[in-house]
Amino acid sequence: MCFARALPGATWLPSDPDPSSRASIAAWIEAEGLSNIAPPRAIDVTAQVWGVEDQAPFDALVAINMIHISPWESTLGLIAGAGRLLAEKGVLYTYGAYKREGRHTAPANETFDAWLKQKDPAFGVRDLEAVEEAARAQGLVLNEIVHMPANNFSLVFKRG
Ligand SMILES: C[S@@+](CC[C@H](N)C(=O)[O-])C[C@H]1O[C@@H](n2cnc3c(N)ncnc32)[C@H](O)[C@@H]1O
Repeated sequence: MCFARALPGATWLPSDPDPSSRASIAAWIEAEGLSNIAPPRAIDVTAQVWGVEDQAPFDALVAINMIHISPWESTLGLIAGAGRLLAEKGVLYTYGAYKREGRHTAPANETFDAWLKQKDPAFGVRDLEAVEEAARAQGLVLNEIVHMPANNFSLVFKRG
């Protein structure tokens, strides 16, 4: 909602494979009354076909708090999708907690990582460098790393 309000010239296509999350997104769209957000789609980023190929290429893909709260395959799927569907010079933006060169950036992230793994052993705070390497393999270059509050990072990858 925040991005759609801040960037009214862009059309936003929210998605989540989880029906209750989609219902929540739809309720927010209705409550905010924004006209530049499409109804939420059921995209599982690990799928080869996302069902939005007819609207590609996209200027940007935005994934907030997903990389650490899903199996590594989801990160690979997200990045592969970005490689397939982003426009030339398109941006993949990811936000969340990351390790740097195998080390947590704050004690709170270590606690968070243990909590994630207890929830699901396939979840976990990823190495920023591993995400960067996976992105590079799909033609995406890590263009910017922005330190965010609460030990999070914004990563901006660019295609081409
Ligand atoms: C912690 S929530 C974050 C939701 C939202 N981005 C936010 O910040 O409020 C993580 C989301 O990732 C989604 N997710 C997990 N695996 C996924 C996958 N393979 N494809 C697409 N979304 C996935 C989950 O359904 C969940 O809604």
